[in-house]
Amino acid sequence: MTRRMNLALSIANLGYHYAAWRHPDMPAGGNMDFRHTLHCARLAEQGKFDLIFLADSAAVRDLDNPAIAREMEHQIVKHEPVALLAALSAVTRHIGLVATASATYNEPFNLARSFASLDHMSGGRAGVNLVTGFSIDEARNFGLDAVHGSEFRHERATEFCDVMKGLWDSWDDDAFPRDKATGQFWDRAKLHYLDHAGKHFKVRGPLDVARPPQGHLPVFTAGDSDNAMEFSARCGDVVYGGQPDIESARAYYAAVKGRLAKHGRSPDAVKMLPGIMAFVGRTQQEAQDKFDRMQALIEPKLGLGLLAVNGFPDYTGHDIDGPVPEIAATPGRKAFFNSPLMAKVRREGMTIRQLYEAVSGGFWHLGVVGTPNRIADVMEEWFTTGAADGFNVQSPCIPVDTQDFVELVIPELQRRGLHRKEYDGTTLRQRLGLPQAPSRYA
Ligand SMILES: Cc1cc2nc3c(=O)[nH]c(=O)nc-3n(C[C@H](O)[C@H](O)[C@H](O)COP(=O)(O)O)c2cc1C
Repeated sequence: MTRRMNLALSIANLGYHYAAWRHPDMPAGGNMDFRHTLHCARLAEQGKFDLIFLADSAAVRDLDNPAIAREMEHQIVKHEPVALLAALSAVTRHIGLVATASATYNEPFNLARSFASLDHMSGGRAGVNLVTGFSIDEARNFGLDAVHGSEFRHERATEFCDVMKGLWDSWDDDAFPRDKATGQFWDRAKLHYLDHAGKHFKVRGPLDVARPPQGHLPVFTAGDSDNAMEFSARCGDVVYGGQPDIESARAYYAAVKGRLAKHGRSPDAVKMLPGIMAFVGRTQQEAQDKFDRMQALIEPKLGLGLLAVNGFPDYTGHDIDGPVPEIAATPGRKAFFNSPLMAKVRREGMTIRQLYEAVSGGFWHLGVVGTPNRIADVMEEWFTTGAADGFNVQSPCIPVDTQDFVELVIPELQRRGLHRKEYDGTTLRQRLGLPQAPSRYA
């Protein structure tokens, strides 16, 4: 069978470009407008994507640092993702529906329950992106004054995931004979109490939702710390990556896949989907013009704030058209500081403006400005040389750039046989090429 790319469309707010909302054709109020999200989901179905993906954290972040001009950003308010996907499940047919949820600030029973419902409502199209949270603002909304350490969060997330999957197995697939003749609605022999008692959770069960159509929903994970990669290898089905260049993406791909064997899993049990941000044009010049137009919409105050978010010193008061003064690495931003972008800063003596434009261009993930052919070349190279099993498409402006991606890049990927022309299968697991998950009691 031909190996095809898995494609996710990440529909974060109005897009991955910080000035997306200022684009003349963008619906600036789209964050809270259901019709906006529905339009994006339909575009994803038109492009035969596997799924739409909603990143999330349960907080409004970074309000306390005055250097960060949050008042100029659109990525600020949003819908609660499971509620949003539940509504979308009723008005879409094919697209997978993946929401982010935190294993640090939820109980496994709550998430097992809401995601099982979403899987039933959507006919087996749901997935959960199980994150551990890094934001102090989120911690403060859940009774904490500091973020738990990485080890604690990932240990909890691993147990969380086991409990959640265990709860999904509460009922056998055929537990409900609903026999009107005998009066037996369900079969006691096909009900299982989890009776879990671990370090972080004590859960008796059973779940009050029948076993999800997919058995276990696909679990998405992310992160490049040792703890995060171990968590991905043990619990993840799809790993969302943020590597900016092919060498680091190959290293990450090999590092995660290399850990699977010790968990008794085969290398293709996990799909690696790095993020890609593409500015598409019919000609290279058209793509460059689009890119330049967006960059020009970043006010210096916003740009300087973005540098602050990414761990740079506050450059307020410096000449933004002068060279970047000095760069000190901060913990947690290792990949960023070792990135090709930073190498370029040092090599070329970039100005502060050039630096924040590069950052706001989303180029700490893979970024491409080019024709459909050029973008497909990059994706194909990543896909065929051990850097990716597919991509999480992060359009700069959603839906403006998503439309271009669907109309221009998708046909090129299809022409090359890298992407499906029609939907096959019905569940998200099938679309992703993941086997049905058997119950632990089977
Ligand atoms: C590409 C990528 C996407 C992520 N998306 C989210 C997200 O939507 N919400 C969230 O709370 N954390 C998200 N995370 C953070 C991870 O869940 C994890 O907390 C992070 O990698 C920090 O782990 P560490 O402390 O071990 O480095 C993301 C991480 C990466 C690399």
